[in-house]
Amino acid sequence: MEKSSTEKEGKIWAIGGGKGGTGKTFITSAIGTYIAGKGKRVVLIDVDIGGANLHSFLGINRPKKSLTDFFETGASLSKLAVKTGIDNMSLISGDIHSLASDSIKFTQKLKLFRHIMKLNKNYVIIDLGGGSHNNTIDTFLMADKRVVILEPEITSVENMYHFIKNALFRKLRMSLREYGFKEIVEQMWERRQEYKIKSLRELMDHIRDSFSYVGDIIDKELSDFKLYLILNKIRSSDDILIGSSMKSIFKKYLCVDTRFVGFVEYDDSVWRSIRERRPFMLNYSLSRSAKEVEVFTENLLNGKEIKLSRS
Ligand SMILES: Nc1ncnc2c1ncn2[C@@H]1O[C@H](COP(=O)(O)OP(=O)(O)OP(=O)(O)O)[C@@H](O)[C@H]1O
Ligand SMILES: [Mg+2]
Repeated sequence: MEKSSTEKEGKIWAIGGGKGGTGKTFITSAIGTYIAGKGKRVVLIDVDIGGANLHSFLGINRPKKSLTDFFETGASLSKLAVKTGIDNMSLISGDIHSLASDSIKFTQKLKLFRHIMKLNKNYVIIDLGGGSHNNTIDTFLMADKRVVILEPEITSVENMYHFIKNALFRKLRMSLREYGFKEIVEQMWERRQEYKIKSLRELMDHIRDSFSYVGDIIDKELSDFKLYLILNKIRSSDDILIGSSMKSIFKKYLCVDTRFVGFVEYDDSVWRSIRERRPFMLNYSLSRSAKEVEVFTENLLNGKEIKLSRS
């Protein structure tokens, strides 16, 4: 049977990228508003532990209930979802106050994901916090579609590279552990100087050469590890090239395939819409930046990249 496009492309999307302040929350709100406007049922989940502010981008009050109630009292996710004022779109807040984020166990995260998968929605869009905390990385890894938000500046590039490297390393270790090969990768990494291994790519090549059966597992993991890249706050058309460079860096040093789906320009209407307590995609729907959001969201939905015209 032909799979529906949602099934094909995955319904759970995580929006991350490592550095704080790049626009993850803005883009989560904008993507959600646009998809909901197309008549799809969407729920946004704010898992920025300690810094949940997705409600502000939607112009609503901070929800009283949050994922704390899921973890502590077993409240169902559908009971935690609040209306956003936008048809077809609800919000689950991740403001985990009484629970120290470090105390969320891996099994609890798996349980959360099992419940997320059962939500009767077409799309679940998860806004991750900044940084490379294991909770953030695990949530990123569990999603069907991994979207990263990059600002055209060196610190954002560096933080994103570290975030993806850590995520990939964690994924490889987890899957090699399942097959009983965890020690191989850890020992090789620890002795990387002796083996003259300088990057994760070289580590993977080295493992492949030494243990071809482990190489097959790595190749399978890499082919599953696709990334979707969005550039935010661009100020000139030259900035767009940074998206293509990031894509090449991921390929060259991490063997990771990236789809560069699009960009949004720097636009003061973003903060203005927060102050006006109206979602950007509704208040500034005719702006050029809203059109840019539409373009990359369509690309995300269809698994396409932007077309860059060469001069
Ligand atoms: N395209 C844009 N043009 C202008 N300002 C923007 C744009 N995107 C985001 N901003 C502004 O940048 C700031 C950070 O955005 P946002 O909160 O979405 O980032 P974040 O990545 O979620 O941050 P954090 O890591 O703290 O969660 C906000 O003040 C927002 O209004
Ligand atoms: Mg945020």
